Amino acid sequence: MSEPFLQANDLAVHFPTDDGVVRAVDGLSFTLRKGETLGIVGESGSGKSVTSLAIMGLHRGTRAKVSGSVMLDGTDLLAIGDEELRRLRGRKLAMIFQDPLSAMHPYYTVGKQLTEAIRVHEKVSRQAARATVVDMLGRVGIPNPSRRFDQYPHEFSGGMRQRAMIAMALINNPELLIADEPTTALDVTVQAQILDLMRDLQREFGSAIIMITHDLGVVAEIADDVMVMYGGKAVEYAEVDDLFHQPDHPYTWGLLTSMPRLDRAKSERLLPVVGNPPSLINVPPGCAFNPRCAFTEFGSRPCDVAVPELAESYPKHDSRCHIPVPLRAELFAEQIAPRL
Ligand SMILES: Nc1ncnc2c1ncn2[C@@H]1O[C@H](COP(=O)(O)OP(=O)(O)OP(=O)(O)O)[C@@H](O)[C@H]1O
Ligand SMILES: [Mg+2]
Repeated sequence: MSEPFLQANDLAVHFPTDDGVVRAVDGLSFTLRKGETLGIVGESGSGKSVTSLAIMGLHRGTRAKVSGSVMLDGTDLLAIGDEELRRLRGRKLAMIFQDPLSAMHPYYTVGKQLTEAIRVHEKVSRQAARATVVDMLGRVGIPNPSRRFDQYPHEFSGGMRQRAMIAMALINNPELLIADEPTTALDVTVQAQILDLMRDLQREFGSAIIMITHDLGVVAEIADDVMVMYGGKAVEYAEVDDLFHQPDHPYTWGLLTSMPRLDRAKSERLLPVVGNPPSLINVPPGCAFNPRCAFTEFGSRPCDVAVPELAESYPKHDSRCHIPVPLRAELFAEQIAPRL
């Protein structure tokens, strides 16, 4: 087995604010091999975007306190200088941002920005770069790409801007692609097209992909491993088939039972996990999920006092829960599986 291409160790991102320290990401560790996809899921505010920005080095120069290490192909992305990191961005690692406006410069045409993105890394003529860009704009589903090339970001609709940004991230065939909710603003056909493009990237260049999404259907389709985040921590981390066949954390059960199913009436489908996400300033004592968990009576230790560790429940399948593993399996089989 090859060494992991990406290895995050004890990654933490804390924001000092007037109200206290926001522990947005708090001790995350994960690995990713070339050619593989890690899906990261978790509800709004669980720390997914903050994690990706940390890998990209985009908390630099802000008040955020980032600690831990993120090794990419032997280089600690958190320790290198700004200049070296800038050189790596684009080709070694690239990101599709959740907010498409943040990624494009308003003063330059879309075509110029994409062309320059190529020419930073490669000595190619403007014409050759233009041809590559027009081709890529077409591949992400932008109609009339050669006309669109000369337009400014504000002339693009939200969906078109999202596609242009995806083109920007893919244009240099990055070895690591972080895709933060890349398809939420897009219609189903284009979504499928984008997922196909990512698969092509992976097949042709052996790229590693981090796929952040609310959509467990997308995870099932594209991920090799899945990390479920809750309140800035991983609560479950497993290979994708194991996660769907033997989900092991009550929060994951909540996500799975709230997943839309085509064979159910619409009104029946949407059952969000009951309760609200935790405060990241005053994280609940014990297990951060305990105020929303229906199973705390089964914990081997008091769930509202002791913080559970992320521990191996099954081979290559970790979770963070005080309920004994066999009992969890029983609860899942009896109470959750029949609802899926
Ligand atoms: N600059 C900042 N200062 C203070 N708190 C922040 C900052 N950026 C993010 N946060 C907080 O960190 C937490 C995690 O945010 P993040 O954007 O990573 O969530 P997310 O999992 O990506 O959610 P979503 O699914 O809505 O995109 C949130 O509570 C957010 O308010
Ligand atoms: Mg986000």
